[in-house]
Order: sequence, then C-alpha cells, then structure tokens
Amino acid sequence: MLKELEDLKAKAVSELGSIDNLEELEKWRVRYLGRKGSLTAILRGLGELPVDERRTTGAIANQTKVLLEADLKLKEEALKSKDLAATLEQTRLDITLPGYPVSLGRLHPVTQTLREICNVFVSMGFQIVEGPEVEWDYYNFEALNIPQDHPARDMWATFWIDTEGGERSRLLRTHTSPMQIRLMEKTRPPIRALMPGRVYRYEATDATHESMFYQVEGLAIDRDITMSDLKGTLFEFARRLFGESRKVRFRCDYFPFVEPGVEMAIDCFICQGAGCPLCKNTGWIEILGAGMVHPEVLRRVNYDPEVYTGFAFGMGVERIPLLRYGIDDIRLFYGNDLRFLKQF
Ligand code: FA5
Repeated sequence: MLKELEDLKAKAVSELGSIDNLEELEKWRVRYLGRKGSLTAILRGLGELPVDERRTTGAIANQTKVLLEADLKLKEEALKSKDLAATLEQTRLDITLPGYPVSLGRLHPVTQTLREICNVFVSMGFQIVEGPEVEWDYYNFEALNIPQDHPARDMWATFWIDTEGGERSRLLRTHTSPMQIRLMEKTRPPIRALMPGRVYRYEATDATHESMFYQVEGLAIDRDITMSDLKGTLFEFARRLFGESRKVRFRCDYFPFVEPGVEMAIDCFICQGAGCPLCKNTGWIEILGAGMVHPEVLRRVNYDPEVYTGFAFGMGVERIPLLRYGIDDIRLFYGNDLRFLKQF
C-alpha cells in the first residue's frame, strides 16, 4: 500500500503541474481528494490493515493528503490570479485615449437674438419683465386706448379664447404692449423696462409674417423724457445689432397708445434698398413700432401726464436674424429643419 501511495502522490503531483485552468483543477481534486477520489479510497481502506501497518501507512497517507491539499490550494491561487490578470488585461481602461465627442445642443437663433437684444438694453439700464401670453381684452386693447369697436382693433387679427356674456374677453396677446399697462399698474416712475415674449396673430403667413412670433416691448417713463431719448435709444440699439453701415429709417405711424407714433425700418439686406419681393419693393424692412406714451394711457394707470412722459417701442424679434443673416423666409425659424437650425 505504501508503494501505491507513493505512485499516487507522484502521479497527482505531476498531473497538477500540467493543469492550466480552474475547470481541470476541479476535476483533479475530485479524482484524488473527492469523496470517491483515489486517495480518499486509500484512507478509507486503512481500517482493514493490521494495526502496525495501519499506523505507518495511515501517517503517510495523511501526509500525502495534507501535501496534495496544500498543492491544490497553491495551484488554485495561482490560476485565479492568472485569470484575474487576463481579465484586467482585456478590460483595461486606457485613460489616455480621446473620449467620444459629446454632441451639444445649441440655442435656437431666435433665442440667441432675444438674448442679444436683452443684453443691449440691459447695458443701457433697462430691466427685464415678463408676463402672460393669455391676456384680457382690457390689457391688450382697452387700457391701451383701443376701446370696443374702435377701428384700430383691425390692426391686430386676434385669436379669441373665450367670451363673457357674449362679449369677447380673453385672447392670445397680439402684441407685448399689454405689459406696459401691467408694469405701470404695479410700479411708479422712473421705469426702464424690456418685456420680451411670444405673441399671436390670426393671419396668413408669408416670408415676413408668422402667426406666432416674438416681440420685445420697451418702456421708459420719467420726468422730461422726449422723442430724442426714443430716437437715441433705438439708433444705439440698431448700431449695436446691425453695425454702423446699415441704414435706419424713422417714419410717422399710427398706434392708438402713442402720440406721436413712428415705425423704424432697416434697409433690405437682399436688394440693399433697391426693392425686391422680400421687402415688397419698398427697400426697407420694418422692425418696430414706437412712440411717446399717449397721455390717455398714462391717466389709466394714474400717472399724471403733466409730470411724467415716456416712450415705448415694440419690435419683432424674428425680423432681426432675418436681416442680419440674409434669411429670406421667416417660416424657416419654426419649420424645425435641423439643417437650417444647425447653421447658427
Ligand atoms: C405692435 O405690435 C405695437 N404693439 C408696437 C408698438 C409698441 C408701437 C409700443 C408703439 C409703442 P406692429 O403690429 O407693427 O406693432 O408689430 C411690431 C413689430 O412686430 C413689427 O414691426 C414687426 O417687426 C413685427 N411683426 C408684426 N407682425 C408680424 C408677423 N406676423 N410676423 C413676424 N413679425 C411681425
């Protein structure tokens, strides 16, 4: 039996030496040390040996078992760390590799322009104020000196929301001018405010008209504000946004809530003033309406027109990138064609 043990040990050790994976190692363990393994069988058979022989053979068999178990443990650790090293090698993170580019979104050209306009006026001391898009007839028309049935209501084709007792009362604001009233109701002069927001008009669209677009309303109220302040402010704005070389035109215009009223236009970028379909052969593109706040409007909000005067303007935001970048159709801004939008 000693010879048998000797052979078993030699065979087991030599087999172990050539094992190179954990699966084979488990089979080896089962073969020699498992419940039905050959060493286990020898250990079980010890009981049948004569007492003397049992002691010596038993001692050697146990030593063999301890030795094989120790070898097994060593081999298992070696194979496990080899596996770990291989896994680490495969999944190694090379932190020197360049990362995948993250595709960044961008601001819509109208948002960019809106922010630019706000920055110009904020630098002149105006503060930004916002208000509701769903508006009362009172703020959109009545308080702006446009009573019911006044013909000037036709200047703004209106989306009505609901009617009260047969009378139209709520609407989608057709301009940002109602914000003049809302602000003056809440504060006292001096006021220098810029009020950007969406407005809606129930009208057919064309290259320079949308049914939803942005306006920026400006309002300045104080003692001794004159038409020169209005012109100076708007000229400075045009110079900052369009540069020195573009021509600016002021003309008389009528808005019930200002007196006198003006419109401001910039020379058409396509025909340089010669006349083309975009500017409807006028050579000019109108960007805003403005004027000195009407005394009636000041009275509505309990400002004394003998003490305070002021100017107001309302500009169309989309018309500005149209003029600056030579875009020939306002509808492109809301068509959501990424090929167009990605250029800004
Ligand atoms: C008004 O809306 C007045 N509230 C402006 C105003 C404010 C006058 C304060 C006096 C004092 P108007 O309807 O002209 O005015 O519109 C003002 C600007 O909005 C226009 O000059 C134009 O640039 C732009 N605009 C008007 N209609 C459209 C439209 N359908 N699509 C895009 N922009 C438009």
